[in-house]
Amino acid sequence: MSTVGADLQITGVEAGYGGSTVLTGVDLDVAAGETVALLGRNGVGKTTLMSTIMGFVPTLRGSIEVAGKDVSGLPTHVRAAEGVAIVPQGRRVFAPLTVHNNLRIASGRSGDWDLDRVYQLMPRLKERRGNRGDQLSGGEQQMLAIGRALLLGPRVLLLDEPSDGLAPVVVQQVTEVVRELAGEGMTVLIVEQDLRAAFAVADRVAVMEKGRIVHESGVADFRRDGDRARRLLGVG
Ligand SMILES: Nc1ncnc2c1ncn2[C@@H]1O[C@H](COP(=O)(O)OP(=O)(O)OP(=O)(O)O)[C@@H](O)[C@H]1O
Ligand SMILES: [Mg+2]
Repeated sequence: MSTVGADLQITGVEAGYGGSTVLTGVDLDVAAGETVALLGRNGVGKTTLMSTIMGFVPTLRGSIEVAGKDVSGLPTHVRAAEGVAIVPQGRRVFAPLTVHNNLRIASGRSGDWDLDRVYQLMPRLKERRGNRGDQLSGGEQQMLAIGRALLLGPRVLLLDEPSDGLAPVVVQQVTEVVRELAGEGMTVLIVEQDLRAAFAVADRVAVMEKGRIVHESGVADFRRDGDRARRLLGVG
């Protein structure tokens, strides 16, 4: 399926590691301002797709277009300049640096986002600005990782399991941040195992199985068919 004006258009993408192919032909579009939740069982290739979009993993076949420009052969920093930023699985903030310095080293590259706007979106980070990365709770680390990505001024934000390992109340806080970004028109592709969180932020879901997208539907439609969801995701 191809969408005119898609901010992110993935067509027939194959990718993997060494000799083994993980992505076997991914087709997925995310329209400008849309939020798509990428769902799927463990190990189906969700993170590999995020890494391939970012250029950490090379595209063997197919194309990845950002706002109409094919970036699939370009290095990561060029893709970032074209407007793609990632909040990686497992966060990875710089432990010895303060919140403020973690953010400061990411800033200065974007007209849209500066430190003040990040602190406004996530006041908790401002309160913790003098604390080091390793003194933060999981939720605060996740917000810091989001803040760093935003300071790159993305038009497309990739989030890989932002709720992973967080307490339910903290998942809600992080979800609220993503909702606000989506509400401001950010284009978002989010991998999410927490279905409640996925449904709260997404317009649409895409389900991956064995390295390809096997189902796409609107959130409301997806929620109506519990049997199909269970079949695709193996959850209750
Ligand atoms: N760096 C790597 N080198 C080799 N194989 C890898 C690497 N990363 C992932 N794989 C393999 O690629 C496949 C897909 O993994 P991937 O991490 O993309 O899945 P995932 O859907 O994100 O899983 P999860 O839900 O557990 O995060 C798995 O078989 C995994 O073992
Ligand atoms: Mg993953």
